[in-house]
Amino acid sequence: MTSLAQTAYKAALEWYVDNGVDEALGDMSVDRTKITPPNVTSILHNLKPEKEGSSTSSVMQELRGPSPQAAQDQTPLGASDARAESVKLAQEASTLEELREAIAEFEGISLKKTATNLVFCDGNPKAPVMLIGEAPGADEDRLGKPFVGQSGQLLDKIFKCIGLDRAEEDPAKSIYISNILNWRPPGNRTPAPGEVEASLPFIERHIQLVQPKVLVFCGGVSAKALLGRTDGISRMRKLWHGYLPQTPELKSGSEIIPAIATYHPAYLLRTPSQKKAVWADMLMIQQKLKETGIV
Ligand code: URA
Repeated sequence: MTSLAQTAYKAALEWYVDNGVDEALGDMSVDRTKITPPNVTSILHNLKPEKEGSSTSSVMQELRGPSPQAAQDQTPLGASDARAESVKLAQEASTLEELREAIAEFEGISLKKTATNLVFCDGNPKAPVMLIGEAPGADEDRLGKPFVGQSGQLLDKIFKCIGLDRAEEDPAKSIYISNILNWRPPGNRTPAPGEVEASLPFIERHIQLVQPKVLVFCGGVSAKALLGRTDGISRMRKLWHGYLPQTPELKSGSEIIPAIATYHPAYLLRTPSQKKAVWADMLMIQQKLKETGIV
């Protein structure tokens, strides 16, 4: 027979799932509505004789704990500091491995605290085509590789139709894959503008190090961030763009790379009628590779 407690736990679990919680971050849940009262006895005991003359306000400050400002001054960094740090780390990375390490050590993005794995790349870095998605989902987070879930499987099928496969050893027939964000946003929420801004120098440096012949921006978040545009994906697809980094510090020495935007496979799973449009984008990519003598 089901106990009252079991019924309550089940209801709580269902409530979490309905609200998009799909992963446990700790063994125990934390009741954040309960504020731990300060240990008054130990604070008073630790007041040294020289502190006995302390003003009431400093004793009160000790009882209150760190100010909200002090707490905020800890990591993650503020938006402009985070951006400055990611630009610096990106510039200093001169190989893909160094870039991966730089991203791993970057403290300016709090997603790192909730994610399981850093998701950096998959496929062949010598491939002519580099595809950039939005951010890892649950499967990617678990395995540490981009596009390995349901939408990744659809993506693989789409690219196989034009003879490209991330698992192919021949670089000319392969594809290289990464994302704007390297850490999974909890519950697969859309990346926040500050997260995209702080991560942009990393993916721009990633492109510089790989030097692909053709870029494919997969979905609106990727296309907007890398093209510096605000219009929707429908307006950005169906034409070739000339990609250059948005980050001024990364612009020098960069060559324009032909880039195309296409719908995200997760959108295609929800709206299969748009597969025709993506097929047209794939034919444009195939044509570009033929024109430039790449395949
Ligand atoms: N969606 C993305 O944009 N990237 C992934 O890696 C997985 C799903």
